Amino acid sequence: MASLDLQSLTRRFGTTRAVDGVSFSVPSGAFLALLGPSGCGKTTLLRLIAGLDRPDGGQIRIGGQPVAGPGGFVPPEARGLGMVFQSYALWPHMTVAGNIRFGLRLRRLSRADEAARIAESLAMVGLSGMEARRPHELSGGQRQRVALARSLATRPALLLLDEPLANLDAHLRGVMLAEFRRIHAALGTTFVFVTHDQDEAMAVASHVAVMNAGRLEQLAAPETLYRQPATPMVARFVGGGRTVPVDVLDQSGSTCRIRVQGQVLAVPGLAPRGPGWLCLRPRDLVPVADGPILARVLDSQFRGGGWSVSALLDEGADTLVDLTLPHAPQRGQALALRLAGGWVLPREGVALKTSPESIPA
Ligand SMILES: Nc1ncnc2c1ncn2[C@@H]1O[C@H](COP(=O)(O)OP(=O)(O)OP(=O)(O)O)[C@@H](O)[C@H]1O
Ligand SMILES: [Mg+2]
Repeated sequence: MASLDLQSLTRRFGTTRAVDGVSFSVPSGAFLALLGPSGCGKTTLLRLIAGLDRPDGGQIRIGGQPVAGPGGFVPPEARGLGMVFQSYALWPHMTVAGNIRFGLRLRRLSRADEAARIAESLAMVGLSGMEARRPHELSGGQRQRVALARSLATRPALLLLDEPLANLDAHLRGVMLAEFRRIHAALGTTFVFVTHDQDEAMAVASHVAVMNAGRLEQLAAPETLYRQPATPMVARFVGGGRTVPVDVLDQSGSTCRIRVQGQVLAVPGLAPRGPGWLCLRPRDLVPVADGPILARVLDSQFRGGGWSVSALLDEGADTLVDLTLPHAPQRGQALALRLAGGWVLPREGVALKTSPESIPA
């Protein structure tokens, strides 16, 4: 179990800032998801934490100890961490037990202790009795469990997982996500789980760090990220949010008065007076006879529980919103809508730059 602190961490490849001044802290025992679109720097950040790569600037501390930065460089094998990759990285010619033993080779354990660790870690991932199998005799999900067992056998204080479920089908992903949660709860090890899938991140993590173009956009608990996005990128990336340009008239507490389509409405949010965004998700818009927001149906699709509708706001003609209707609407049909939710944020997102943010465990 180890806390993780990053301070102004930077890694450049030529002119690409793969990791660009990232700072955050997560407490020991956290389950942190690193979430963001392809190429945003997730793997680069994970490799820096692992010690497989060196930063150009900034500092990393694991369990309070500096491992990279001005204080020097601690090599990967001395950082007390485990890694699990998308590709499993199992040795095909070795048995399951052999693969796990290979992960333990630097520990110089007795034969008996080694066998005990192998049995313990296989039991942890639900593969007891599979010691003698080879990787080609296992399913994809079982191979990923062996890769996990190999890491767990070293009893790491910090476990780094880079898209570990990307090669599995949707059903197995769900099963393995539940397994990761169970193992995390049983061990209390700090997990850092890289994914570009927001549903995966929200399902497993205690903390989610959203990255975009090398920068940290927001670090928050899943529910906060969904309900109170700090930047337009987070609003759009998480939970299929749409953003509508509005004027913020004033803010008191966590309510903003905004002007949208000539109407003044009070909506939850944190934004100073001036241009802002209103983040709206499908359930935030409800059709009512005299609703203050006017839109026109652009398209609709039947989705089990109702019709999933995209509509254009009447004013600011190219602003799209989504909502659900019980009946099929006509294309071009006028809708009067009431706000049943939403969140106001500043037009210029205040992405976290230098100050570490921590959330209580
Ligand atoms: N060794 C390298 N040399 C040059 N550029 C690199 C190198 N590694 C990564 N990059 C660049 O750094 C940026 C971040 O890459 P990274 O692999 O960290 O993204 P990612 O978030 O893990 O993406 P994905 O979800 O596709 O795995 C990309 O623009 C990538 O092209
Ligand atoms: Mg990657």
